[in-house]
Amino acid sequence: MSYEKLFDLTHKVALVAGAAGGLARETCLGLNQFGATLALADVDAKGLTRVCNELGRKGIKTWSKVVDVSDGASVESLINALKRNFGRLDILINFVGVVWTNPIEKISVAEFQKVIDINLKGSFLLAQQSLRLMAPKRSGKIILVGSVYEEASKAIKRARAGKGPTLLECLIHRWTGHSMSDPDTYRTEKEKREGEKKDPILRFKKELISEGRMSEDEYMEMEQRVAKEIEEAIHFAEKECTDIDPEPFDILRGVYAAN
Ligand SMILES: NC(=O)c1ccc[n+]([C@@H]2O[C@H](COP(=O)([O-])OP(=O)(O)OC[C@H]3O[C@@H](n4cnc5c(N)ncnc54)[C@H](O)[C@@H]3O)[C@@H](O)[C@H]2O)c1
Repeated sequence: MSYEKLFDLTHKVALVAGAAGGLARETCLGLNQFGATLALADVDAKGLTRVCNELGRKGIKTWSKVVDVSDGASVESLINALKRNFGRLDILINFVGVVWTNPIEKISVAEFQKVIDINLKGSFLLAQQSLRLMAPKRSGKIILVGSVYEEASKAIKRARAGKGPTLLECLIHRWTGHSMSDPDTYRTEKEKREGEKKDPILRFKKELISEGRMSEDEYMEMEQRVAKEIEEAIHFAEKECTDIDPEPFDILRGVYAAN
């Protein structure tokens, strides 16, 4: 079985919340590539229109609605509209996230509450309302996205301001250093080996093969295809794209923090 078939999303409706943001845009392209119908939502009406237009110029059809995820009535009306339009919801991905930009002593209770309402209550409301369409079919996927990026940024700022170190406990294992310039000398070999055993890609591979969804040969063929795709992309970046004048949308494709 090819990986396109394995991850096929034809006839699936995907709701992407926070769709005007950076990560959502990349995800929309991926969902579309695998055949999903895109329903986009964001509180930023202008941003939402911009993303829908950008996707439209690439021939990608979207449905969209403005929503404030911290407001129960707004989320309910989004899900009602989805039900009227598509009669189903298969995937919810919530990218909505806001952060404090002030040090804690300068944050008002109202600001604190706003972040809690958008990030926490918003995730709850979206998941709860989405379940109205998913639960009767006993099928659906809910993905809620969060971040450690802000915490790391705060720690760096604090250190640079001479306020000393911050302890960040990172429970996710990286195979290599943070970037090419990171020699990764701060972990022991034993720690690396232990981490590698938990590699979700290898665990997924085992599962695919043991459940008979793919043969070893098919898996290898898929790996080779992906490696070739990456090689071609590197070649394109290094040798072929020198006289191209891309749209802003394309310049930011695949970039870690787009905004
Ligand atoms: N960008 C990264 O590199 C990165 C890395 C790891 C995790 N994350 C996390 O992923 C999530 C998305 O990241 P991003 O970079 O795309 O963020 P972003 O700020 O570009 O997008 C967030 C979107 O949420 C929308 N939004 C804010 N309040 C809302 C509300 N009340 N109702 C509906 N929509 C609302 C904003 O208009 C915006 O379009 C965030 O939670 C972020 O912390 C981002």
